[in-house]
This record gives sequence, C-alpha cells and structure tokens, in this order.
Amino acid sequence: SYVIAQPCVDVKDKACINECPVDCIYEGARSLYIHPSECVDCGACDPVCPVEAIYFSEDVPDEWADYVRANAEFFEDGPGVSRPDQDHPVIQAEPDRLP
Ligand code: F3S
Ligand code: F3S
Repeated sequence: SYVIAQPCVDVKDKACINECPVDCIYEGARSLYIHPSECVDCGACDPVCPVEAIYFSEDVPDEWADYVRANAEFFEDGPGVSRPDQDHPVIQAEPDRLP
C-alpha cells in the first residue's frame, strides 16, 4: 500500500484526500494516515502532495521506515476511521515543526 510519512506532520495539506478513489486516507491530529488494506495502490495521491510525504511502502526512505507501521497501527486492525484528536506514537514523538 501507499504510506504517508514524516513530511505530512503538522502540514496536513489534504490535497491527497481529493485524489483517492476509495477514500482510504483518514485524518489524525498532526498527520493523515492511509489504511493499508483499503488502499488499492493506484498512486493517485502521491504526485499531488506538495511536501512529498507519500510513498509506496517499499519505497519509503529508511529514515521514515517506522511510518509504514504507524499508518497501519493507527487503525488498530479495524476499518478506516478519522480520529482528528489522536495520533500514532511515532507521529506523537516528532518534534513540533518550526513555523
Ligand atoms: Fe499530508 Fe500531503 Fe496529504 S501534506 S495531508 S500527505 S497532501
Ligand atoms: Fe488512495 Fe490510491 Fe493513494 S487508493 S491512498 S489514492 S494510492
């Protein structure tokens, strides 16, 4: 599946949401998350992200490898749901982005 990585944190541009044909991109507090089993690997979201946060899982840069797990675990093995007041611990641990 595709994965949203560190550049989304505290940016949340949301251009990706409009491109996804299966609506598998969900909102957390500081980042958005892709549900790994709902994603159909179409790639439509990847080029529209202005900060290049979106990668195919096998192409996620090593420094952001934890984000593959973070996108999956945000959903706790359940169906996709937005939780705008919550984040995965990997995202929580990111320092605040300077303005
Ligand atoms: Fe984030 Fe980029 Fe989407 S910043 S919300 S992954 S368009
Ligand atoms: Fe959705 Fe396709 Fe991206 S299914 S999450 S737009 S790869």
